[in-house]
Amino acid sequence: MKIFAYGIREDEEPSLKKWEEANPNIEVGFTKYTLTADSARLAEGSDGVVTLQTSPYTREALEVLNKLGIKYISIRNVGFDNFNFKDLNDLGFTLTNVPVYSPNAIAEHTVLLMGRLLRRVPEFDEKFDNGDFTWAPTIGKEYREQTVGVIGTGHIGRVVIKILQGFGAKVVAYDVYHNDDIEKQGLYVDSLEELYKQSDIITLHVPLFDSNKYMINDKAISQMKDGVYIINCARGELIDTDALIKGLDSGKVAGAGLDVLDNENSVFGKVWSSVDNIPNEKIKNLAKRTNVIITPHSAFYTETAIHNMITTSFDSNKALIEGLKPNNIVDTTK
Ligand code: NAD
Ligand code: COI
Repeated sequence: MKIFAYGIREDEEPSLKKWEEANPNIEVGFTKYTLTADSARLAEGSDGVVTLQTSPYTREALEVLNKLGIKYISIRNVGFDNFNFKDLNDLGFTLTNVPVYSPNAIAEHTVLLMGRLLRRVPEFDEKFDNGDFTWAPTIGKEYREQTVGVIGTGHIGRVVIKILQGFGAKVVAYDVYHNDDIEKQGLYVDSLEELYKQSDIITLHVPLFDSNKYMINDKAISQMKDGVYIINCARGELIDTDALIKGLDSGKVAGAGLDVLDNENSVFGKVWSSVDNIPNEKIKNLAKRTNVIITPHSAFYTETAIHNMITTSFDSNKALIEGLKPNNIVDTTK
């Protein structure tokens, strides 16, 4: 049996080596390149592939894998929004993801972004760089005075809620599916409008679908409190960047913490040396503001997460090749 992995980084190699040692009968090949029509042929002779990328998985790349007789794809991450399910189904692929490699990694990052905005850390940093060790005017706010609206109470949203409650924040939540524990605590509101109306901070933890692309748009922002903070550690396309920029310009939005951005692949993963060199005008606009914190889709990036991403994705791919049905097969019929 052979498994071929795409986009393997140096920080993943120790966990990959451990997996190989634990599975000596399985040949593992890998490349640092992501899965494209060109790199797909590197998987020749393999029974399954393991991948991780934020760029789209193209039909051309999948067609090459299909021609090589490969039927099993295991992604090392949660979100599968960069696949076209029709392509997967047409070409007969079975896909697995890693639904819970470490919700804490993303949840902690989310609450840190909130805290850095509330305590105006970027502005203090700027003052510090200028040798300014004074207090005013960078007065902060406390979590316990905030109502935080959590949209999506799945694996990550629920850990965010728990951490926030530890800080004494009031939480309201919205989800199309109600989790028993969150329901028992009475945190759900009936509509997004109600959540927007009540929240001082809004944080997104839903998957991206065609139906919720740009759900945070002009209309949604107009329904929010004046001076709202918006946090997005889910998917960039959930927010219409033009609407966010307008909200920031008018002061309606007091600040934003963004680990993901619409069109982030034009900027993330590369070194621009200065914000001025960022080649995407909208992202540059956001990046120049001290009330906007951008991180390069790094909320997931912890040692624990990386180890679990490697281990679970390779275990799943192996199980598929052995004819088993791991419980993390993605339902591509929906
Ligand atoms: P999950 O599937 O466990 O939870 C998602 C929740 O959203 C579910 O409870 C679901 O019922 C709810 N939901 C779906 N559509 C909704 C809608 N239209 N309105 C309201 N609720 C809706 O997912 P998760 O693991 O918690 O991941 C949440 C998000 O975080 C996803 O977008 C995922 O891709 C992203 N993510 C980001 C990073 C990162 O590094 N930034 C890492 C992992 C996951
Ligand atoms: C996910 O797991 O879905 C993420 O967003 C992490 C990223 C490395 C793709």
